[in-house]
Amino acid sequence: MAAQIIDGKALSLIIQAELALDASAMLKETGTKPGLAAVLVGDNPASQVYVRNKQKACEKAGFESWLYKLDAKSTQEDLLNLISKLNHDPKVHGILVQLPLPKHLNTDLILDAVTALKDVDGFGPENLGLLTSGRPRLLPCTPHGVLVMLQRYNIPVAGKHVVVLGRSTIVGKPMGLILLQNGIDATVTICHSKTANLKEITRQADILVAAIGRACFVTADMVKPGAVVIDVGINRKDDGKLVGDVDYEQVLPLCGAITPVPGGVGPMTITMLLHNTLLAARLQSKAL
Ligand code: GUN
Repeated sequence: MAAQIIDGKALSLIIQAELALDASAMLKETGTKPGLAAVLVGDNPASQVYVRNKQKACEKAGFESWLYKLDAKSTQEDLLNLISKLNHDPKVHGILVQLPLPKHLNTDLILDAVTALKDVDGFGPENLGLLTSGRPRLLPCTPHGVLVMLQRYNIPVAGKHVVVLGRSTIVGKPMGLILLQNGIDATVTICHSKTANLKEITRQADILVAAIGRACFVTADMVKPGAVVIDVGINRKDDGKLVGDVDYEQVLPLCGAITPVPGGVGPMTITMLLHNTLLAARLQSKAL
Protein backbone atom coordinates (compact mmCIF):
# COMPACT_ATOMS: atom_id res chain seq x y z
CA MET A 1 0.00 0.00 0.00
CA ALA A 2 1.25 3.51 -0.78
CA ALA A 3 2.67 5.49 2.13
CA GLN A 4 0.46 8.07 3.76
CA ILE A 5 1.82 11.60 3.35
CA ILE A 6 1.44 13.50 6.63
CA ASP A 7 0.54 17.01 5.47
CA GLY A 8 1.76 19.43 8.13
CA LYS A 9 0.77 22.46 6.08
CA ALA A 10 -2.87 21.46 5.77
CA LEU A 11 -3.05 20.34 9.41
CA SER A 12 -1.50 23.64 10.51
CA LEU A 13 -4.17 25.63 8.70
CA ILE A 14 -6.87 23.64 10.53
CA ILE A 15 -5.26 24.09 13.96
CA GLN A 16 -4.48 27.77 13.35
CA ALA A 17 -8.14 28.34 12.48
CA GLU A 18 -9.09 26.68 15.81
CA LEU A 19 -6.60 28.91 17.63
CA ALA A 20 -8.03 32.00 15.92
CA LEU A 21 -11.48 31.07 17.28
CA ASP A 22 -10.02 30.57 20.78
CA ALA A 23 -8.24 33.94 20.57
CA SER A 24 -11.39 35.73 19.49
CA ALA A 25 -13.34 34.12 22.36
CA MET A 26 -10.62 35.27 24.76
CA LEU A 27 -10.81 38.81 23.41
CA LYS A 28 -14.59 38.86 23.84
CA GLU A 29 -14.50 37.44 27.38
CA THR A 30 -11.47 39.21 28.84
CA GLY A 31 -10.52 42.02 26.44
CA THR A 32 -7.10 40.41 26.06
CA LYS A 33 -5.42 39.61 22.74
CA PRO A 34 -2.63 37.01 23.00
CA GLY A 35 0.63 38.79 22.12
CA LEU A 36 3.99 37.48 20.94
CA ALA A 37 7.23 39.49 20.90
CA ALA A 38 9.95 38.14 18.62
CA VAL A 39 13.56 39.20 19.08
CA LEU A 40 15.86 38.92 16.09
CA VAL A 41 19.54 39.76 16.44
CA GLY A 42 21.60 40.27 13.28
CA ASP A 43 20.67 39.50 9.70
CA ASN A 44 20.76 35.72 9.29
CA PRO A 45 18.54 35.28 6.20
CA ALA A 46 16.95 32.00 7.36
CA SER A 47 16.09 33.53 10.75
CA GLN A 48 14.52 36.53 9.02
CA VAL A 49 12.24 34.20 7.03
CA TYR A 50 11.28 32.18 10.12
CA VAL A 51 10.45 35.29 12.13
CA ARG A 52 8.42 36.77 9.28
CA ASN A 53 6.41 33.54 8.97
CA LYS A 54 5.77 33.52 12.71
CA GLN A 55 4.53 37.11 12.59
CA LYS A 56 2.26 36.44 9.61
CA ALA A 57 0.72 33.45 11.38
CA CYS A 58 0.12 35.57 14.51
CA GLU A 59 -1.60 38.32 12.58
CA LYS A 60 -3.77 35.87 10.64
CA ALA A 61 -4.95 34.24 13.89
CA GLY A 62 -5.80 37.62 15.48
CA PHE A 63 -2.81 37.67 17.86
CA GLU A 64 -0.73 40.79 18.56
CA SER A 65 2.84 40.49 17.35
CA TRP A 66 5.88 42.69 17.71
CA LEU A 67 9.30 42.33 16.14
CA TYR A 68 12.41 43.70 17.88
CA LYS A 69 15.29 43.79 15.43
CA LEU A 70 18.69 44.27 17.02
CA ASP A 71 21.98 44.97 15.33
CA ALA A 72 24.39 42.00 15.03
CA LYS A 73 26.82 43.92 17.25
CA SER A 74 24.34 44.32 20.12
CA THR A 75 25.76 43.49 23.52
CA GLN A 76 24.58 40.96 26.07
CA GLU A 77 23.40 43.90 28.17
CA ASP A 78 21.33 45.36 25.29
CA LEU A 79 19.56 42.04 24.90
CA LEU A 80 19.05 41.47 28.63
CA ASN A 81 17.59 44.98 28.97
CA LEU A 82 15.12 44.32 26.16
CA ILE A 83 14.10 40.97 27.67
CA SER A 84 13.59 42.58 31.06
CA LYS A 85 11.34 45.22 29.46
CA LEU A 86 9.30 42.53 27.67
CA ASN A 87 9.10 40.42 30.85
CA HIS A 88 7.38 43.35 32.56
CA ASP A 89 5.05 44.35 29.69
CA PRO A 90 1.55 42.98 30.43
CA LYS A 91 0.58 43.07 26.72
CA VAL A 92 3.39 40.63 25.86
CA HIS A 93 2.42 37.05 26.73
CA GLY A 94 5.16 35.25 24.81
CA ILE A 95 8.82 36.11 24.15
CA LEU A 96 10.72 34.36 21.40
CA VAL A 97 14.43 34.93 20.95
CA GLN A 98 15.25 33.62 17.48
CA LEU A 99 18.23 31.25 17.46
CA PRO A 100 21.04 31.06 16.58
CA LEU A 101 22.32 34.22 18.26
CA PRO A 102 25.63 35.81 17.15
CA LYS A 103 28.58 33.96 18.69
CA HIS A 104 29.62 36.75 21.10
CA LEU A 105 26.32 36.40 23.01
CA ASN A 106 25.72 33.79 25.72
CA THR A 107 22.59 31.97 24.51
CA ASP A 108 21.98 30.09 27.79
CA LEU A 109 22.06 33.27 29.89
CA ILE A 110 19.75 35.07 27.47
CA LEU A 111 17.19 32.25 27.33
CA ASP A 112 17.33 31.93 31.13
CA ALA A 113 16.37 35.62 31.38
CA VAL A 114 12.99 35.08 29.71
CA THR A 115 10.42 34.79 32.49
CA ALA A 116 9.10 31.21 32.64
CA LEU A 117 5.42 32.01 31.97
CA LYS A 118 6.41 33.88 28.77
CA ASP A 119 8.89 31.22 27.58
CA VAL A 120 6.80 30.16 24.56
CA ASP A 121 9.74 28.25 23.05
CA GLY A 122 9.75 26.05 26.16
CA PHE A 123 13.57 26.07 26.17
CA GLY A 124 14.07 27.54 29.64
CA PRO A 125 15.01 25.44 32.69
CA GLU A 126 11.63 25.80 34.43
CA ASN A 127 9.54 24.55 31.52
CA LEU A 128 12.01 21.78 30.66
CA GLY A 129 12.16 20.81 34.35
CA LEU A 130 8.37 20.62 34.57
CA LEU A 131 8.28 18.41 31.47
CA THR A 132 10.98 16.16 32.94
CA SER A 133 9.07 15.81 36.20
CA GLY A 134 5.83 14.82 34.45
CA ARG A 135 4.05 18.19 34.78
CA PRO A 136 4.30 19.54 31.24
CA ARG A 137 3.42 23.24 30.79
CA LEU A 138 4.89 25.19 27.83
CA LEU A 139 6.32 22.48 25.56
CA PRO A 140 9.06 23.08 22.98
CA CYS A 141 7.19 23.77 19.74
CA THR A 142 8.81 21.37 17.27
CA PRO A 143 8.53 18.13 19.28
CA HIS A 144 5.05 19.16 20.42
CA GLY A 145 4.14 19.67 16.77
CA VAL A 146 5.38 16.16 15.96
CA LEU A 147 3.18 14.68 18.72
CA VAL A 148 0.12 16.60 17.54
CA MET A 149 0.70 15.40 13.96
CA LEU A 150 0.78 11.79 15.11
CA GLN A 151 -2.34 12.29 17.22
CA ARG A 152 -4.38 14.11 14.57
CA TYR A 153 -3.47 11.45 12.00
CA ASN A 154 -4.60 8.77 14.48
CA ILE A 155 -1.19 7.10 14.45
CA PRO A 156 -0.93 4.98 17.61
CA VAL A 157 2.00 5.89 19.86
CA ALA A 158 1.35 4.01 23.15
CA GLY A 159 3.60 0.98 23.43
CA LYS A 160 5.31 1.74 20.12
CA HIS A 161 9.05 1.91 19.81
CA VAL A 162 9.99 5.46 18.79
CA VAL A 163 13.60 6.01 17.78
CA VAL A 164 14.69 9.66 17.84
CA LEU A 165 17.81 10.62 15.90
CA GLY A 166 19.41 13.64 17.60
CA ARG A 167 19.71 14.81 21.22
CA SER A 168 19.34 18.58 20.90
CA THR A 169 17.59 20.62 23.59
CA ILE A 170 15.29 22.08 20.93
CA VAL A 171 14.06 18.77 19.48
CA GLY A 172 15.62 15.39 20.35
CA LYS A 173 15.69 15.49 24.17
CA PRO A 174 12.24 17.08 24.68
CA MET A 175 10.83 14.78 21.95
CA GLY A 176 11.87 11.79 24.04
CA LEU A 177 10.46 13.32 27.25
CA ILE A 178 7.13 14.18 25.62
CA LEU A 179 6.72 10.66 24.23
CA LEU A 180 7.50 9.17 27.66
CA GLN A 181 4.71 11.10 29.43
CA ASN A 182 2.01 9.10 31.17
CA GLY A 183 -0.86 8.74 28.72
CA ILE A 184 1.42 8.95 25.68
CA ASP A 185 3.43 5.91 26.70
CA ALA A 186 5.89 5.30 23.90
CA THR A 187 9.05 3.25 24.35
CA VAL A 188 11.80 5.70 23.43
CA THR A 189 15.36 5.32 22.19
CA ILE A 190 17.42 8.46 21.56
CA CYS A 191 20.39 8.05 19.20
CA HIS A 192 23.20 10.49 18.47
CA SER A 193 26.53 10.80 16.70
CA LYS A 194 28.28 8.35 19.07
CA THR A 195 25.57 5.66 18.95
CA ALA A 196 26.95 2.25 17.93
CA ASN A 197 25.11 0.05 15.40
CA LEU A 198 22.79 2.88 14.46
CA LYS A 199 21.14 1.08 11.56
CA GLU A 200 20.24 -1.92 13.75
CA ILE A 201 18.44 0.43 16.13
CA THR A 202 16.65 2.56 13.55
CA ARG A 203 15.39 -0.60 11.85
CA GLN A 204 13.57 -1.50 15.08
CA ALA A 205 11.58 1.75 15.05
CA ASP A 206 7.83 1.71 14.61
CA ILE A 207 8.16 5.50 14.45
CA LEU A 208 11.45 7.11 13.41
CA VAL A 209 12.01 10.82 14.15
CA ALA A 210 15.01 12.36 12.37
CA ALA A 211 16.34 15.59 13.89
CA ILE A 212 20.07 15.71 13.20
CA GLY A 213 20.44 18.42 10.57
CA ARG A 214 22.17 16.26 7.93
CA ALA A 215 20.66 16.23 4.46
CA CYS A 216 19.23 12.86 3.35
CA PHE A 217 20.98 10.99 6.22
CA VAL A 218 18.21 8.40 6.69
CA THR A 219 18.36 5.94 3.80
CA ALA A 220 16.03 3.07 2.89
CA ASP A 221 18.19 0.43 4.60
CA MET A 222 17.72 2.22 7.97
CA VAL A 223 13.92 2.00 7.94
CA LYS A 224 11.67 -0.95 8.88
CA PRO A 225 9.06 -1.54 6.15
CA GLY A 226 5.77 0.08 7.19
CA ALA A 227 7.38 2.41 9.78
CA VAL A 228 6.17 5.99 10.30
CA VAL A 229 8.94 8.44 9.40
CA ILE A 230 8.96 12.00 10.77
CA ASP A 231 11.51 14.33 9.22
CA VAL A 232 12.37 17.36 11.35
CA GLY A 233 15.38 18.44 9.25
CA ILE A 234 15.46 21.42 6.94
CA ASN A 235 18.70 21.54 4.97
CA ARG A 236 19.48 23.70 1.95
CA LYS A 237 21.49 21.92 -0.73
CA ASP A 238 24.05 23.65 -2.97
CA ASP A 239 21.44 23.99 -5.74
CA GLY A 240 19.17 25.87 -3.29
CA LYS A 241 16.70 22.98 -2.90
CA LEU A 242 15.33 22.32 0.61
CA VAL A 243 15.64 18.73 1.79
CA GLY A 244 15.07 16.97 5.09
CA ASP A 245 17.22 14.57 7.11
CA VAL A 246 15.48 11.68 5.33
CA ASP A 247 16.15 10.58 1.74
CA TYR A 248 12.48 11.04 0.86
CA GLU A 249 12.53 9.41 -2.59
CA GLN A 250 14.25 6.29 -1.24
CA VAL A 251 12.18 5.91 1.93
CA LEU A 252 8.72 6.81 0.55
CA PRO A 253 8.04 3.47 -1.22
CA LEU A 254 8.74 1.31 1.84
CA CYS A 255 7.43 3.32 4.83
CA GLY A 256 3.86 3.41 6.14
CA ALA A 257 3.65 7.20 6.51
CA ILE A 258 6.08 10.08 6.07
CA THR A 259 6.29 13.87 6.51
CA PRO A 260 7.53 15.83 3.47
CA VAL A 261 10.08 18.69 3.58
CA PRO A 262 8.96 21.40 3.15
CA GLY A 263 5.32 21.20 4.29
CA GLY A 264 5.71 18.66 7.09
CA VAL A 265 7.00 19.45 10.57
CA GLY A 266 8.01 23.08 9.78
CA PRO A 267 4.51 24.59 9.69
CA MET A 268 3.59 22.66 12.86
CA THR A 269 6.37 24.40 14.80
CA ILE A 270 4.79 27.78 14.07
CA THR A 271 1.35 26.46 14.93
CA MET A 272 2.53 25.20 18.33
CA LEU A 273 4.13 28.60 18.94
CA LEU A 274 0.68 30.17 18.57
CA HIS A 275 -0.75 27.47 20.82
CA ASN A 276 1.88 28.31 23.46
CA THR A 277 1.25 32.06 23.16
CA LEU A 278 -2.46 31.52 23.82
CA LEU A 279 -1.68 29.15 26.70
CA ALA A 280 0.82 31.68 28.11
CA ALA A 281 -1.85 34.42 27.96
CA ARG A 282 -4.23 32.14 29.90
CA LEU A 283 -1.57 31.21 32.46
CA GLN A 284 -0.69 34.87 33.02
CA SER A 285 -4.32 35.88 33.49
CA LYS A 286 -4.60 33.16 36.18
CA ALA A 287 -1.36 34.25 37.84
CA LEU A 288 -2.60 37.83 38.33
N1 GUN B 1 15.86 28.41 15.59
C1 GUN B 1 15.60 27.22 15.04
N2 GUN B 1 14.49 26.67 15.58
C2 GUN B 1 14.05 27.54 16.50
C3 GUN B 1 12.94 27.55 17.38
O1 GUN B 1 12.12 26.62 17.44
N3 GUN B 1 12.84 28.64 18.17
C4 GUN B 1 13.73 29.65 18.15
N4 GUN B 1 13.55 30.66 18.98
N5 GUN B 1 14.76 29.70 17.34
C5 GUN B 1 14.92 28.63 16.52
